[in-house]
Amino acid sequence: MPKHIIAVLNQKGGVGKTTTAINLAAYLAREGRSVLICDADPQANTTSGLGFDKNSLDATLYDVLFSRSQLDKTIHATNIKNLYLLPANGSLAGAEVELVAQQGRELKLKKNLELLEYDYVFIDCPPSLGLLSVNALCAATDVLVPVQAEYYAMEGLSQLLSTISQVRQALNPSLNLLGVVITLYDNRTSLSEQVKSELERHFGDKLFSTMIPRNIRLAEAPSFGKSIHEHDKWSKGARAYKALAQELENKLDG
Ligand SMILES: Nc1ncnc2c1ncn2[C@@H]1O[C@H](COP(=O)(O)OP(=O)(O)O)[C@@H](O)[C@H]1O
Ligand SMILES: [Mg+2]
Repeated sequence: MPKHIIAVLNQKGGVGKTTTAINLAAYLAREGRSVLICDADPQANTTSGLGFDKNSLDATLYDVLFSRSQLDKTIHATNIKNLYLLPANGSLAGAEVELVAQQGRELKLKKNLELLEYDYVFIDCPPSLGLLSVNALCAATDVLVPVQAEYYAMEGLSQLLSTISQVRQALNPSLNLLGVVITLYDNRTSLSEQVKSELERHFGDKLFSTMIPRNIRLAEAPSFGKSIHEHDKWSKGARAYKALAQELENKLDG
């Protein structure tokens, strides 16, 4: 069993799930933890963001879920030491539909991930609360929710929390809401401030005190197949993800 399996989930697209999964995973790997990042989004942004060509993969998470490829043969070492990738590509889009007819359809990912030994597994979820995300929640020990500092930030969060509690009741009683992290924060706007106060009111100490600023260097890094540390370790974005990784480790170990 991996020590921690963290589903990075928000059914909205563009809130920073993939950026958060890649950069947290990369920092923890740099600290010497063994880390797997599991790309559970058919858009496969994690896979390409780590420098893999999603169109030339022999096998992906899709094949693993349907027992068409062995897990250890589907996991790749990345160019970051200690960081491994279970990749995705567009074929995973079919899994949402094909899983419906399968027995134990919510537990396919769990059955596979529990065979592994890592300090951390991050699951980068798709922007939906469908079966792939439910699989992620069943496999996970913890959920991390990135929330974009924007006007509609709170919208959808109650549905997300209710999905988490349904999964807890029916399938994964020990699933822990690790926390909510504010992404794409812009301290020049009062809107960002408002979103922060509202999230504080709702989530209390479940809100990470580290906020991820809007930072162009973070947006550039995936096009070079790099984490933010490798792309520009002195950028605001790099410092923020480093602090977030430390805060996450303190929360989990403390
Ligand atoms: N803090 C940030 N500052 C600037 N751009 C960001 C930041 N976080 C994410 N982005 C960019 O915003 C877009 C959406 O982020 P992404 O992590 O892919 O979100 P999601 O996985 O939730 O869809 C991407 O182009 C990404 O590079
Ligand atoms: Mg994504």
